[in-house]
Amino acid sequence: MCGIIGYVSGGTVETDVIDVLMDGLSGLEYRGYDSAGVAVANSTISVQKREGDISALEAALSDRTVGGAAGIGHTRWSTHGPPSDGNAHPHTDEDDRVAVVHNGIIENYRSLRDELEANGYVFESDTDTEVVPHLIADALDAGAGVEEAFRRAVDRLDGSYAIAAVYSGSETVYAARQSSPLVLGVGDDGHFLASDVPAFIEYTDRVIYLDDGEFATIDSTNIVVTERDGTVVDTSIETIEWDAEDAGKSGYDHYMLKEIHEQPTAVRQCLHERVTELERRIDVEALEMLSVPTQVQFVACGTSYHAALYGVRLLRDRGVPATAFLASEYDAGSTPVGDETLVVGVTQSGETADTMGALRGANSAGATTIAVTNVVGSSAARECDHVMYVRAGPEIGVAATKTFVSQQIALVLLASELTGEYDDDLAAALRDLPGQLQTVLDDSSAREIATEYRGADAYFFIGRGYNAPVSLEGALKMKEITYKHAEGFAAGELKHGPLALVTDRTPVFALVTGGSNPTKTIGNVKEVETRGAPIVAVTDGSADAGRHADHVLEIPATHPAIAPVLGNVQLQLVSYWVANELGRSIDKPRNLAKSVTVE
Ligand code: F6R
Repeated sequence: MCGIIGYVSGGTVETDVIDVLMDGLSGLEYRGYDSAGVAVANSTISVQKREGDISALEAALSDRTVGGAAGIGHTRWSTHGPPSDGNAHPHTDEDDRVAVVHNGIIENYRSLRDELEANGYVFESDTDTEVVPHLIADALDAGAGVEEAFRRAVDRLDGSYAIAAVYSGSETVYAARQSSPLVLGVGDDGHFLASDVPAFIEYTDRVIYLDDGEFATIDSTNIVVTERDGTVVDTSIETIEWDAEDAGKSGYDHYMLKEIHEQPTAVRQCLHERVTELERRIDVEALEMLSVPTQVQFVACGTSYHAALYGVRLLRDRGVPATAFLASEYDAGSTPVGDETLVVGVTQSGETADTMGALRGANSAGATTIAVTNVVGSSAARECDHVMYVRAGPEIGVAATKTFVSQQIALVLLASELTGEYDDDLAAALRDLPGQLQTVLDDSSAREIATEYRGADAYFFIGRGYNAPVSLEGALKMKEITYKHAEGFAAGELKHGPLALVTDRTPVFALVTGGSNPTKTIGNVKEVETRGAPIVAVTDGSADAGRHADHVLEIPATHPAIAPVLGNVQLQLVSYWVANELGRSIDKPRNLAKSVTVE
């Protein structure tokens, strides 16, 4: 996940293009802060880019002498290679005729790069993006004009992209979109493009949304949108109804809700190049060196611990002995751990002190360690023997949402890779997952259910098998952001004590999905039904769950191991809407911090 911005000044007001680009990058910093860069075009192209957040770029630009009427900028969140000046955007061709910024993933970049290198083009970065300026240069050398060269280059790309380019000697920004967000801003003095409206909301609230496959040409007076074949599109200008203050949240009231809605993208990013379309084979790069370990131990805290419990189930189902430890309780001295043990630290921040302590203990005991984390270059990523990035993009809300889903998916991939069990049905379910998550987000009735039960005394969550960890996570989310009592249980445990707490003022959310003992879970649902508790079934329709429930939160049918990923999203939404009804501080719940660096 990265952010891009483009601006062409109208020329009637004295505007510094770099100032506008830098404002834009600040508005997009929530999309990434590993490196940032800008390019401005006049008779030549001037590029500045720096590793780090945009203050590093700001410092590099402090004695700037460059100017121009058209410019582009980029803020990067690393998902593959480490952050560095060289990997920062914009990227240029060898003669600095064109500069390009890009958000997305160019899936055929390897073959394009091989072809370009064979033709003598020299690459300066590890990025997929750098193929674009070289393709443009190639087209220019073949005699194409600047717009045609841009189109020809984009036509060669497979994958997802929002791309913007500027040329030396031109005051136009060229852009194209395919499966990555791109919106155009219609200003009073000049025009904009960006990954998201916050980048230019301070200058204009009038926007044109670009559709997949469309191109845009932006100059000081005009915005022209065309289809792939060059046909001009009849665009409509919409007015944004939120202001600069709401900007980082893209119009959502809270980061948490925005991040819940980013989950389809987070999953796509986590899966990218890891589930091969043709061979239907799950393929996690850089893990081949790990032979099947004698045992796997997970160490994690909070939400990440729930992901770890899910990972345990995945491995045990594949015949690998696995245990999850709360990192604060892990003691390598008294736990059987040795050089045949793989210890997996699940930590979105990669900085949690308890988890780092456990990983360091395991390391000294001779175990092989792997970090499953969202933060490139974090302590866990640096100190573990191996790292697997979950690629969820920055998460700002304190309550973990999209990072949890991405951890679940990463653990599915890890379990498959470690055991060499490549299940076609599972691979197909993973490919369908982003679309199914979107369906859940679009159709959920969680808000109405939250309104009905906002006054409950407590909330209980139950599920079996793969659903048991998600019932714990559902309860943790509810506690964190609503400040109300909530507990999650493996469904079979209810009758062993917690049932005493169940009344008609304690709604019970039951995860009932195929492959996770739905009939037995319905047996547990009946136990609470007879005690008068309201029941909400989170279900794919298994065991006719709806018949025993007061409400149903539907999820689409999928592989048993993937159903809890979908069910969890419904539970996130219920907690969010209860907290919203109660007026809680959702993004910064009391007493909590995003990254807990004390033991
Ligand atoms: C809950 C939450 C926490 C974290 C826990 C571990 O929403 O975010 O429970 O999961 O503090 O944090 P990481 O994953 O950064 O190690």
